Amino acid sequence: MVGRRPSFEDGVRCRVLRCLHSNGGAVLGGGSMMRIFAVLAAGLAGVLFFAFMITDSTQAVQRGHRGTGMALMYKPAALEALKPLNAIPEAEDPADPPIIGQPTITERYKNIQVLKDLSVNELSRVMAGFVAWVAPEEGCVYCHNTQNMASDEKYTKVVARRMLQMTRTINNEWTQHVGSTGVTCWTCHRGQHVPSGDWFSAAPQKARMLGNRDGQDTAGVATNGNTSLPYDPLTTYLTTPDANVRVQGTRPLAGSNPTSVKKAEHTYALMIYMAKSLGVNCDYCHNTRALARWEQSSPQRVTAWYGLRMVRSLNINYLVPLKPLFPEYRLSPEGDGPKVACATCHKGTYKPLYGVSMKADWPEFWRRGGVDTSNEVRTLPVNHPRPDPQLAKAGLPDWETGYAPEPIPAEED
Ligand code: HEC
Ligand code: HEC
Ligand code: HEC
Ligand code: HEC
Repeated sequence: MVGRRPSFEDGVRCRVLRCLHSNGGAVLGGGSMMRIFAVLAAGLAGVLFFAFMITDSTQAVQRGHRGTGMALMYKPAALEALKPLNAIPEAEDPADPPIIGQPTITERYKNIQVLKDLSVNELSRVMAGFVAWVAPEEGCVYCHNTQNMASDEKYTKVVARRMLQMTRTINNEWTQHVGSTGVTCWTCHRGQHVPSGDWFSAAPQKARMLGNRDGQDTAGVATNGNTSLPYDPLTTYLTTPDANVRVQGTRPLAGSNPTSVKKAEHTYALMIYMAKSLGVNCDYCHNTRALARWEQSSPQRVTAWYGLRMVRSLNINYLVPLKPLFPEYRLSPEGDGPKVACATCHKGTYKPLYGVSMKADWPEFWRRGGVDTSNEVRTLPVNHPRPDPQLAKAGLPDWETGYAPEPIPAEED
């Protein structure tokens, strides 16, 4: 380069060459060869890294207004992996209509308590559905003494009858959550006797000399996402009728919020459980700059609000009362009975079975026989403090966060 003013290109070339040239201009000496390999190896690693990024990239989909940061992150590979779990078995052929003179179901059978609204032919296909969804290996004998089909001697049959009532109640009484999509036994069971995502209350932690850790800092707990948050976020919120999830103060004055940091930790543990069960982030439901505010939340948060109440009601009215029927090996080591929560239906997807409804093929599960309408839990009072009218009058900002959707009356069929 002597005798010529170095150009911009020279500068670039020099910078590139500098990594090849090393000790004062000796081109490509022994040490330099090593460096070339090092550069090539680094380049290869880079290519592999980009290949990994492309195949396993986390993608972001913007869902809220620009600037709100409401972006849903998901991994296409993880979604792909969930596909087989969300497949639906082929439906039975539709039942032939009853022939005139054919006996009704209660004339034909001795112990029909729920399915009185079916024809004899419809009962057969519902039983075939039960086998495919709950006991594909064992068949009818899983629930029946085949010498006497009317007998209730097997606990599985009695549980199945109650499950049937639960399924019909969900489809008729909880449309605020399940819409017209609804559920069948398959939604939870997927061919297993015991559905995945069932849960038991954890044993209470013993208070120790250094105080009560309130279930925190316990490693390896799936429900709270393996965080240091309390390890049983479900018992309080999903089995007691009036448990209040909300913790954020609605007024600016110190001492005006009756809840505590400790309670907020339980709320966060529950939220992590909900997000994990649906395979989503917090901002699927919230605008995370203002977690409490309903008017900035997505419509999915309202669906989730009903979901919380539905799950409570299912546990209180169905699963908890069924406990005495379950054999010991179905109970937890502490003797607690199995219960349902978000993951029992959702299993890591935003809508169970990706929102595909089985209603057209299985209308029997949407009939109303056995539907439990005496359900108190659904109309829970919203026990959140309303903004203080005195404060509003004083011209203080409106800290209202207490809006909750009014329960919508169930659809008539
Ligand atoms: C998951 C449990 C389960 C399985 C598996 C099952 N059933 Fe049932 N079955 C029930 C329940 C529960 C009832 C009672 C329904 C009611 O009370 O409305 C019932 C009732 C019946 C009845 C009426 C009996 C009477 O006289 O009252 C017949 C018949 C029947 N099932 C046949 C079958 C056949 C055939 C199979 C196998 C293809 C089968 N079931 C598999 C749970 C099951
Ligand atoms: C909302 C989810 C859900 C739905 C829907 C559901 N089940 Fe279940 N079922 C459960 C849970 C949870 C258990 C308890 C599992 C355990 O023992 O841990 C259970 C247990 C059972 C058992 C006892 C199995 C055993 O071996 O102990 C039978 C039988 C059963 N269900 C039948 C049915 C039938 C039939 C339907 C459809 C009419 C149905 N279930 C719908 C959640 C559900
Ligand atoms: C599937 C929807 C959904 C997801 C995902 C979700 N939340 Fe929530 N969140 C709700 C609902 C519904 C409520 C109100 C519950 C109630 O009032 O009973 C709530 C309440 C809260 C509250 C209390 C607000 C108040 O008024 O005090 C906080 C804090 C919160 N969520 C944080 C989070 C965090 C953090 C995440 C992610 C780890 C998250 N949420 C994920 C639906 C969701
Ligand atoms: C009995 C089964 C069942 C249980 C339990 C359940 N869900 Fe759902 N959920 C559904 C069904 C079915 C849909 C689809 C409704 C539709 O297609 O409109 C749904 C839809 C949703 C949606 C709307 C998703 C969207 O993209 O629109 C949210 C949010 C949700 N559930 C949250 C929850 C939470 C949180 C829980 C636990 C507190 C829960 N669910 C428990 C069955 C269930």
